[in-house]
Amino acid sequence: IQPTAHCLQGLKVLISAGPTREPLDPVRYITNRSSGKMGYALANAALQAGADVTLVSGPVALTEPAHIELVKVETAAQMYEAVMSRAPDHAIYIGAAAVADYSPAIMEPEKIKKQKELTTIILHKTKDILADVAKLEKRLFTVGFAAETHDLEAYARDKLKRKKLDMIAANWVGRELGGFDSEQNALHVFWENGEKTLAMMDKTRLAEQLIGLIAERFKGYESL
Ligand code: PMT
Repeated sequence: IQPTAHCLQGLKVLISAGPTREPLDPVRYITNRSSGKMGYALANAALQAGADVTLVSGPVALTEPAHIELVKVETAAQMYEAVMSRAPDHAIYIGAAAVADYSPAIMEPEKIKKQKELTTIILHKTKDILADVAKLEKRLFTVGFAAETHDLEAYARDKLKRKKLDMIAANWVGRELGGFDSEQNALHVFWENGEKTLAMMDKTRLAEQLIGLIAERFKGYESL
Protein backbone atom coordinates (compact mmCIF):
# COMPACT_ATOMS: atom_id res chain seq x y z
CA ILE A 1 0.00 0.00 0.00
CA GLN A 2 2.73 2.47 -0.90
CA PRO A 3 0.89 5.51 -2.25
CA THR A 4 1.55 6.35 -5.87
CA ALA A 5 2.48 9.91 -6.77
CA HIS A 6 -1.05 10.50 -8.02
CA CYS A 7 -3.32 8.40 -5.83
CA LEU A 8 -5.03 11.52 -4.39
CA GLN A 9 -4.49 13.70 -7.47
CA GLY A 10 -6.70 16.80 -7.46
CA LEU A 11 -8.54 15.83 -4.27
CA LYS A 12 -9.02 18.28 -1.44
CA VAL A 13 -7.90 16.77 1.86
CA LEU A 14 -8.47 18.39 5.26
CA ILE A 15 -6.30 17.21 8.16
CA SER A 16 -6.22 18.18 11.84
CA ALA A 17 -3.03 17.87 13.89
CA GLY A 18 -1.52 18.59 17.26
CA PRO A 19 -3.03 19.25 20.68
CA THR A 20 -5.49 21.93 21.72
CA ARG A 21 -4.98 24.30 24.64
CA GLU A 22 -7.89 25.06 26.93
CA PRO A 23 -7.24 28.19 28.99
CA LEU A 24 -7.92 28.36 32.73
CA ASP A 25 -6.73 31.93 33.13
CA PRO A 26 -4.44 34.25 31.11
CA VAL A 27 -1.33 32.20 32.00
CA ARG A 28 -2.47 28.59 32.43
CA TYR A 29 -4.06 25.97 30.23
CA ILE A 30 -4.96 22.29 30.00
CA THR A 31 -3.37 20.39 27.13
CA ASN A 32 -1.95 16.97 26.17
CA ARG A 33 1.23 15.40 24.84
CA SER A 34 0.52 15.55 21.10
CA SER A 35 3.47 16.97 19.13
CA GLY A 36 1.61 17.21 15.81
CA LYS A 37 4.18 14.94 14.11
CA MET A 38 1.63 12.33 12.98
CA GLY A 39 -0.75 14.93 11.50
CA TYR A 40 2.04 16.92 9.80
CA ALA A 41 3.48 13.70 8.31
CA LEU A 42 0.01 12.86 6.95
CA ALA A 43 -0.32 16.32 5.43
CA ASN A 44 3.04 15.94 3.66
CA ALA A 45 2.20 12.41 2.48
CA ALA A 46 -1.17 13.59 1.09
CA LEU A 47 0.62 16.43 -0.71
CA GLN A 48 3.11 13.94 -2.23
CA ALA A 49 0.12 11.86 -3.37
CA GLY A 50 -1.17 14.85 -5.39
CA ALA A 51 -3.77 16.23 -2.97
CA ASP A 52 -4.60 19.83 -2.30
CA VAL A 53 -4.06 19.90 1.48
CA THR A 54 -5.42 22.08 4.28
CA LEU A 55 -3.91 21.48 7.72
CA VAL A 56 -5.67 22.77 10.83
CA SER A 57 -3.09 22.71 13.57
CA GLY A 58 -3.05 23.23 17.30
CA PRO A 59 0.08 24.75 18.90
CA VAL A 60 3.16 22.71 17.88
CA ALA A 61 6.90 23.27 17.53
CA LEU A 62 7.21 21.93 13.97
CA THR A 63 8.37 23.60 10.76
CA GLU A 64 5.50 25.01 8.74
CA PRO A 65 4.98 22.70 5.76
CA ALA A 66 5.45 24.11 2.26
CA HIS A 67 2.63 24.06 -0.33
CA ILE A 68 0.02 23.29 2.32
CA GLU A 69 -2.61 25.72 3.59
CA LEU A 70 -1.90 25.96 7.32
CA VAL A 71 -4.63 27.19 9.67
CA LYS A 72 -3.33 27.75 13.21
CA VAL A 73 -5.72 27.40 16.14
CA GLU A 74 -5.40 27.06 19.88
CA THR A 75 -8.59 25.81 21.53
CA ALA A 76 -10.93 22.92 20.71
CA ALA A 77 -13.67 25.46 19.94
CA GLN A 78 -11.39 27.25 17.46
CA MET A 79 -10.41 23.93 15.87
CA TYR A 80 -14.10 23.05 15.57
CA GLU A 81 -14.85 26.31 13.72
CA ALA A 82 -11.77 26.04 11.48
CA VAL A 83 -12.58 22.45 10.45
CA MET A 84 -16.37 22.76 10.13
CA SER A 85 -16.21 25.95 8.04
CA ARG A 86 -13.80 24.32 5.57
CA ALA A 87 -15.05 20.70 5.53
CA PRO A 88 -17.88 21.01 2.94
CA ASP A 89 -15.27 22.07 0.41
CA HIS A 90 -13.16 18.90 0.92
CA ALA A 91 -13.41 15.23 -0.14
CA ILE A 92 -11.50 13.64 2.74
CA TYR A 93 -11.12 14.52 6.45
CA ILE A 94 -8.40 12.96 8.62
CA GLY A 95 -8.71 13.81 12.33
CA ALA A 96 -5.21 13.24 13.73
CA ALA A 97 -5.46 16.04 16.31
CA ALA A 98 -5.66 15.22 20.00
CA VAL A 99 -8.62 17.52 20.65
CA ALA A 100 -9.37 18.19 24.31
CA ASP A 101 -12.48 16.29 25.35
CA TYR A 102 -13.17 18.80 28.12
CA SER A 103 -12.56 22.51 28.50
CA PRO A 104 -12.79 24.75 31.61
CA ALA A 105 -16.31 26.14 31.93
CA ILE A 106 -14.90 29.53 32.87
CA MET A 107 -11.74 31.26 31.75
CA GLU A 108 -10.84 33.51 34.66
CA PRO A 109 -9.98 36.98 33.32
CA GLU A 110 -7.20 37.35 35.92
CA LYS A 111 -4.55 34.95 37.19
CA ILE A 112 -6.07 32.53 39.73
CA LYS A 113 -4.57 33.10 43.20
CA LYS A 114 -3.48 30.24 45.41
CA GLN A 115 -5.69 31.13 48.34
CA LYS A 116 -7.48 27.82 48.93
CA GLU A 117 -5.99 24.48 49.99
CA LEU A 118 -8.40 22.66 47.76
CA THR A 119 -9.94 23.95 44.59
CA THR A 120 -12.06 22.55 41.77
CA ILE A 121 -12.21 23.20 38.06
CA ILE A 122 -15.50 22.67 36.28
CA LEU A 123 -15.04 21.22 32.82
CA HIS A 124 -17.51 21.14 29.96
CA LYS A 125 -17.42 18.55 27.20
CA THR A 126 -16.16 19.99 23.90
CA LYS A 127 -17.98 19.48 20.61
CA ASP A 128 -16.88 16.38 18.71
CA ILE A 129 -15.35 17.61 15.45
CA LEU A 130 -14.93 14.17 13.94
CA ALA A 131 -18.51 13.06 14.61
CA ASP A 132 -19.90 16.34 13.24
CA VAL A 133 -17.79 16.11 10.04
CA ALA A 134 -19.12 12.57 9.53
CA LYS A 135 -22.69 13.92 9.90
CA LEU A 136 -22.37 16.62 7.24
CA GLU A 137 -24.93 16.52 4.46
CA LYS A 138 -22.13 16.68 1.91
CA ARG A 139 -20.42 13.40 2.79
CA LEU A 140 -16.66 13.42 3.26
CA PHE A 141 -14.60 10.24 3.45
CA THR A 142 -13.97 10.55 7.18
CA VAL A 143 -10.95 9.03 8.92
CA GLY A 144 -10.64 9.18 12.69
CA PHE A 145 -7.84 8.30 15.06
CA ALA A 146 -8.23 6.46 18.34
CA ALA A 147 -5.62 6.84 21.08
CA GLU A 148 -6.08 4.08 23.62
CA THR A 149 -4.29 2.78 26.69
CA HIS A 150 -6.34 -0.48 26.76
CA ASP A 151 -8.86 -2.53 24.72
CA LEU A 152 -7.65 -0.86 21.54
CA GLU A 153 -9.72 -2.79 18.98
CA ALA A 154 -13.00 -2.70 20.95
CA TYR A 155 -12.78 1.08 21.54
CA ALA A 156 -11.65 1.78 17.98
CA ARG A 157 -14.45 -0.28 16.42
CA ASP A 158 -16.95 1.39 18.76
CA LYS A 159 -15.76 4.86 17.61
CA LEU A 160 -15.91 3.75 13.95
CA LYS A 161 -19.55 2.69 14.32
CA ARG A 162 -20.85 5.28 16.76
CA LYS A 163 -19.33 8.24 14.92
CA LYS A 164 -20.23 6.73 11.50
CA LEU A 165 -16.66 6.93 10.18
CA ASP A 166 -15.28 5.37 7.02
CA MET A 167 -12.03 4.36 8.69
CA ILE A 168 -10.28 4.58 12.05
CA ALA A 169 -6.54 4.42 12.76
CA ALA A 170 -5.93 3.25 16.30
CA ASN A 171 -2.70 3.61 18.24
CA TRP A 172 -1.51 2.66 21.68
CA VAL A 173 -0.61 5.61 23.87
CA GLY A 174 1.06 5.83 27.27
CA ARG A 175 3.50 3.08 26.33
CA GLU A 176 7.22 3.26 25.85
CA LEU A 177 7.17 3.37 22.06
CA GLY A 178 4.87 5.09 19.58
CA GLY A 179 1.83 7.30 20.05
CA PHE A 180 2.29 10.80 21.42
CA ASP A 181 5.44 12.81 20.84
CA SER A 182 7.70 10.08 19.47
CA GLU A 183 9.34 9.72 16.04
CA GLN A 184 7.72 6.34 15.48
CA ASN A 185 4.26 4.89 15.68
CA ALA A 186 2.26 1.80 14.76
CA LEU A 187 -1.38 1.79 13.66
CA HIS A 188 -4.21 -0.71 13.64
CA VAL A 189 -6.57 0.50 10.96
CA PHE A 190 -10.20 -0.63 10.92
CA TRP A 191 -13.10 -0.14 8.52
CA GLU A 192 -16.52 -1.79 8.25
CA ASN A 193 -15.44 -5.09 6.79
CA GLY A 194 -11.71 -5.08 7.17
CA GLU A 195 -8.59 -4.13 9.00
CA LYS A 196 -4.87 -3.70 8.46
CA THR A 197 -1.94 -3.46 10.82
CA LEU A 198 0.81 -0.99 10.00
CA ALA A 199 3.91 -1.98 12.00
CA MET A 200 6.05 0.33 14.15
CA MET A 201 8.00 2.69 11.87
CA ASP A 202 8.89 6.36 11.39
CA LYS A 203 5.80 8.57 11.33
CA THR A 204 6.84 9.81 7.86
CA ARG A 205 6.73 6.32 6.34
CA LEU A 206 3.71 5.31 8.40
CA ALA A 207 1.82 8.37 7.10
CA GLU A 208 2.65 7.36 3.51
CA GLN A 209 1.22 3.90 4.13
CA LEU A 210 -1.94 5.25 5.75
CA ILE A 211 -2.44 7.67 2.85
CA GLY A 212 -2.03 4.71 0.44
CA LEU A 213 -4.68 2.79 2.35
CA ILE A 214 -7.04 5.79 2.46
CA ALA A 215 -6.65 6.30 -1.31
CA GLU A 216 -7.44 2.62 -1.92
CA ARG A 217 -10.57 2.68 0.29
CA PHE A 218 -11.64 6.10 -1.07
CA LYS A 219 -11.75 4.70 -4.62
CA GLY A 220 -14.17 1.98 -3.53
CA TYR A 221 -16.22 4.60 -1.66
CA GLU A 222 -16.44 6.89 -4.69
CA SER A 223 -17.83 4.13 -6.89
CA LEU A 224 -20.64 3.28 -4.42
O1 PMT B 1 0.90 14.36 17.57
P1 PMT B 1 1.84 13.19 17.81
O2 PMT B 1 2.79 13.45 18.96
O3 PMT B 1 2.57 12.76 16.55
O4 PMT B 1 0.97 11.94 18.29
C1 PMT B 1 0.05 11.35 17.42
C2 PMT B 1 -1.29 11.05 18.12
C3 PMT B 1 -1.08 9.97 19.18
C4 PMT B 1 -1.84 12.34 18.77
C5 PMT B 1 -2.26 10.57 16.98
O5 PMT B 1 -1.72 9.42 16.36
C6 PMT B 1 -3.65 10.28 17.53
O6 PMT B 1 -3.96 9.21 18.03
N1 PMT B 1 -4.56 11.31 17.44
C7 PMT B 1 -5.90 11.25 18.06
C8 PMT B 1 -5.76 11.48 19.53
C9 PMT B 1 -7.10 11.51 20.24
O7 PMT B 1 -7.53 12.53 20.67
O8 PMT B 1 -7.74 10.33 20.25
P2 PMT B 1 -9.19 10.10 20.91
O9 PMT B 1 -9.35 8.61 20.92
O10 PMT B 1 -9.32 10.85 22.19
O11 PMT B 1 -10.17 10.78 19.86
C10 PMT B 1 -10.79 10.05 18.82
C11 PMT B 1 -10.97 10.89 17.59
O12 PMT B 1 -11.94 11.92 17.85
C12 PMT B 1 -9.72 11.58 17.06
O13 PMT B 1 -9.73 11.49 15.63
C13 PMT B 1 -9.91 13.04 17.51
O14 PMT B 1 -9.29 13.94 16.59
C14 PMT B 1 -11.42 13.18 17.47
N2 PMT B 1 -12.00 14.19 18.39
C15 PMT B 1 -11.94 14.02 19.73
C16 PMT B 1 -12.55 14.95 20.57
C17 PMT B 1 -13.21 16.07 20.00
N3 PMT B 1 -13.78 17.00 20.75
N4 PMT B 1 -13.24 16.21 18.66
C18 PMT B 1 -12.66 15.29 17.84
O15 PMT B 1 -12.70 15.43 16.62
